[in-house]
Amino acid sequence: MYQLIKRDGLAKRGRLKTVHGVIETPVFMNVGTAAAIKGAVSTEDLQGIKTQVELSNTYHLHVRPGDEVVKKLGGLHKFMVWDKPILTDSGGFQVFSLAGLRKIKEEGVYFHSHIDGKKIFMGPEESMQIQSNLASTIAMAFDECPSSVADRNYIQHSVDRTVRWLERCKKEMARLNSLEDTINKQQMLFGINQGGIYEDIRIEHAKRIAELDLDGYALGGLAVGESHEDMYRIIDATVPYLPQDKPTYLMGVGTPANILEAVDRGVDFFDCVYPSRNGRHGHVYTNHGKMNLFNAKYELDDRPIEEGCQCPACRKYSRAYIRHLLKAKEMLGMRLCVLHNLYFYNNMMEEIRTAIEEGRYKEYKKQKLEGFTRGQI
Ligand code: GUN
Ligand code: ZN
Repeated sequence: MYQLIKRDGLAKRGRLKTVHGVIETPVFMNVGTAAAIKGAVSTEDLQGIKTQVELSNTYHLHVRPGDEVVKKLGGLHKFMVWDKPILTDSGGFQVFSLAGLRKIKEEGVYFHSHIDGKKIFMGPEESMQIQSNLASTIAMAFDECPSSVADRNYIQHSVDRTVRWLERCKKEMARLNSLEDTINKQQMLFGINQGGIYEDIRIEHAKRIAELDLDGYALGGLAVGESHEDMYRIIDATVPYLPQDKPTYLMGVGTPANILEAVDRGVDFFDCVYPSRNGRHGHVYTNHGKMNLFNAKYELDDRPIEEGCQCPACRKYSRAYIRHLLKAKEMLGMRLCVLHNLYFYNNMMEEIRTAIEEGRYKEYKKQKLEGFTRGQI
């Protein structure tokens, strides 16, 4: 159940109660696609970097090790040893972005595994069954995320089908949650709004899915190649038509600046691969913008990545040492950068929550954005 604690403009400070504990929002979910945060980050590490929610993917875990295997081992929480909330994405997006040759039909999607080329079928029922086997806290509806270059006519047809898929997801989830051997009988379901960059299609779709009384609502199909202006325009237009007494989740977004802007437009949940992917390449976030630790100017720099940062990397190690590790291709270099970046994101979300509580979100956002553009120290 979602509880709105405070509003500051459109920004929301909320709380989502789940069977795996409370999620304080706005929140950033740490991406662990195949039940692992890339960069050799353990779930024990996650406890020390303010992580509230871990995110995994239906498609990846279905292909390997198999959701039936995870179920036999007691579900994803037990398998990866994480007792806090887990959100699983439905496979919709990954099938469209990863899998080889695919055919979209009314019943679902036929595609080939990116691991061994095996033919797979996934529809709304299969996605719900896999997510139920994984026993995540929150399951995402099975949707189609159309390409950013798809035309209006295609998007309209796709969105109509995504509504029919959502109705099937809801029905299947209710059935699964009532079965005796289901691990998490209180699994939540979030619907996903689509419609490309067409405001009227987005709004119409939002109105239709709002009627289904789901546990939360996501904005999908954004950050797929459109401009930031288009993305903000679509968020502005659509959020008012999503139920305000439920959390709003902007899928796959984004940079710290994107998150600051989206919170200001009423978004509560985020996820993105940037902090872990950039960390693995030695790119780290600071309040003065991003820095590349491979740069020669850090060779003798004995300061932490960011002065005052309480992450496991900055509390002990210097820029010079981490740069050396990265250049020597030591795994620890990547790991420290990923830990710092995830801490940076999670800590920013904590600052955001406090700023909203204290009614100074606009001022906080302005200062933070100015800092990012001021450049390195
Ligand atoms: N992740 C990022 N965008 C999307 C989307 O549109 N749909 C799904 N299911 N996942 C996403
Ligand atoms: Zn740090």
